[in-house]
Amino acid sequence: MYFLRDISEVLVIFSVLVYASQAQGVNDKRSPCDIFVQDGNNLTLNCSRRNIDRIPTWPDKINSLGNKESHVLITFFNNSITNVTQLEAVPGNRIAISFKGNKIVEIEDDAFRHIDRMVYLDLSNNYISGEVLRSEIFQGPYNDGIYSDIGLETLNLGFNEIHSLDKYLFQHTPNLTRLYLNNNPIEILDHVTVLALSSATNLEVLDLSKTDIDSIPLDAFRGLINLRQIDLSGNFFLNVPESLSLVGSSLQYLTFNNNPVIELNDDSFVGLSNLVELEIGENKYLEEVKRSTFTPLKTLRVLHLCHNKNLRYISHNAFRGLKDRWTLKEVYLDDNNLSELSTDLMPWSKLEVLGMTGNSWLCNCDLANIVTKQEAGSKFRTGEIPFCAAPMRLNGAYITNITVSFCPTFDTTFTPKRGFSLSDLRPKHVLWSILGVAAVVGIGMICGIIVNAAKAFYKKKLSQPIRYININNSEASFA
Ligand SMILES: *[C@@H]1O[C@H](CO)[C@@H](O)[C@H](O)[C@H]1NC(C)=O
Ligand SMILES: *[C@@H]1O[C@H](CO)[C@@H](O)[C@H](O)[C@H]1NC(C)=O
Ligand SMILES: *[C@@H]1O[C@H](CO)[C@@H](O)[C@H](O)[C@H]1NC(C)=O
Ligand SMILES: *[C@@H]1O[C@H](CO)[C@@H](O)[C@H](O)[C@H]1NC(C)=O
Ligand SMILES: *[C@@H]1O[C@H](CO)[C@@H](O)[C@H](O)[C@H]1NC(C)=O
Ligand SMILES: *[C@@H]1O[C@H](CO)[C@@H](O)[C@H](O)[C@H]1NC(C)=O
Ligand SMILES: *[C@@H]1O[C@H](CO)[C@@H](O)[C@H](O)[C@H]1NC(C)=O
Repeated sequence: MYFLRDISEVLVIFSVLVYASQAQGVNDKRSPCDIFVQDGNNLTLNCSRRNIDRIPTWPDKINSLGNKESHVLITFFNNSITNVTQLEAVPGNRIAISFKGNKIVEIEDDAFRHIDRMVYLDLSNNYISGEVLRSEIFQGPYNDGIYSDIGLETLNLGFNEIHSLDKYLFQHTPNLTRLYLNNNPIEILDHVTVLALSSATNLEVLDLSKTDIDSIPLDAFRGLINLRQIDLSGNFFLNVPESLSLVGSSLQYLTFNNNPVIELNDDSFVGLSNLVELEIGENKYLEEVKRSTFTPLKTLRVLHLCHNKNLRYISHNAFRGLKDRWTLKEVYLDDNNLSELSTDLMPWSKLEVLGMTGNSWLCNCDLANIVTKQEAGSKFRTGEIPFCAAPMRLNGAYITNITVSFCPTFDTTFTPKRGFSLSDLRPKHVLWSILGVAAVVGIGMICGIIVNAAKAFYKKKLSQPIRYININNSEASFA
């Protein structure tokens, strides 16, 4: 009991001291930031748009408002901070800090040493170069001669001036799961950058969009066994990079917009057997989706294939091998340059949502079959019914308006015809085909021999008269 009382006395004295020191602080340094409490003891520290060029001290209230369990958001959005100097401690369990939209060119060693509970850091829209991003900037508290790690989970480095990453950059951030490198002039994922990336073994989300890259080294993603989502949009890829297959067992979301691919084919998505959502849009050179393109995607649920202005052709075998175990629920084919689709492209009735607007549809009987008989017409979202562009008399009509009367022989002609594919061939079929061909060739040869023999025989016996008769005959037939 005495012990407990002593403790509480010590605590009282301690808090008085702390309070006194804080009270003194108020006069010395006024923080430009506003602080407010949200749901219980979550804090927001608003230092946005203050015209500050250095990191200020926190308002004194911060220690009385927050506690160990608080979630804290500190935002410095849109100021002119150039140097991220060491930040003061902040109470709280999960701390998010945004420096978005400043003029940062430098980050001090140990900048976040007192904020090892920082889980989110946004450094986007600054002037940070690769040289500034050293492993020392993420060092945690220094204990027993070593720097401990920090709990950083999300790091946004988008819109900076990064060419390359230090190979040890993620040494002190073992929990890093989301990394945004978009809109940096990376151009080439060099050896050290690859080492840096592959050291972030807990990475789940990686944004490499608009980084001017045209390839990804084969070993770049080695070890990233948790990578779920990747964005490669706005780069110079001529093909979907093969190196993705290294993370094929974990990758679920691939965004591949705005790259100079010309065609997609059976090599494009090799090994991506766990992909759930695929987005391929705004690829202005994309002309064709060839046979078996989507065959490796055995668990795909959502396909966005939109805004590819030159996409004219999708092979009727694009989904070859998937039709029996169909997983796709949503298919968006809006705003391409398509005019026809094959009735057996996919099992249309198994879709939940279908998008087809913004193409130049030729409203023929195949399309009528897809829309009416195979019920694709009931999958369009409200207000998103595609129009016919041709033939002339149907121009501007909803494709859901073309009816059976337009195709009189609709029911008989368009019973699902199975597309022929090599996989349908059984060894027996192949054998029969070969025998059939052999038989035809054999009979042909025998006939040839007989005819020749007969010719030779008649030539010998009756050459003169026959030639004479022949000439007469042919003259007669010309007359
Ligand atoms: C703080 O915010 C987080 C998410 O923003 C929420 O899950 C949590 O319940 C909040 N804490 C309190 C005490 O309301
Ligand atoms: C933060 O403060 C700025 C400047 O006063 C204001 O424009 C902004 O809306 C505030 N943000 C929040 C989240 O309160
Ligand atoms: C940031 O503030 C400047 C003025 O200081 C303004 O011109 C600019 O548009 C702001 N940027 C954003 C993204 O709000
Ligand atoms: C950033 O701030 C630190 C600490 O005040 C200082 O040592 C360093 O020189 C500064 N760097 C730049 C580029 O201003
Ligand atoms: C990383 O996350 C785990 C699980 O949430 C946590 O126990 C650990 O403390 C975190 N690491 C750091 C350095 O914060
Ligand atoms: C669509 O394809 C046609 C040829 O089939 C071509 O004439 C037209 O320019 C293409 N449209 C666009 C927007 O590229
Ligand atoms: C669709 O058909 C209905 C009646 O059959 C007609 O009133 C309507 O104008 C048609 N709409 C279009 C866009 O074709």
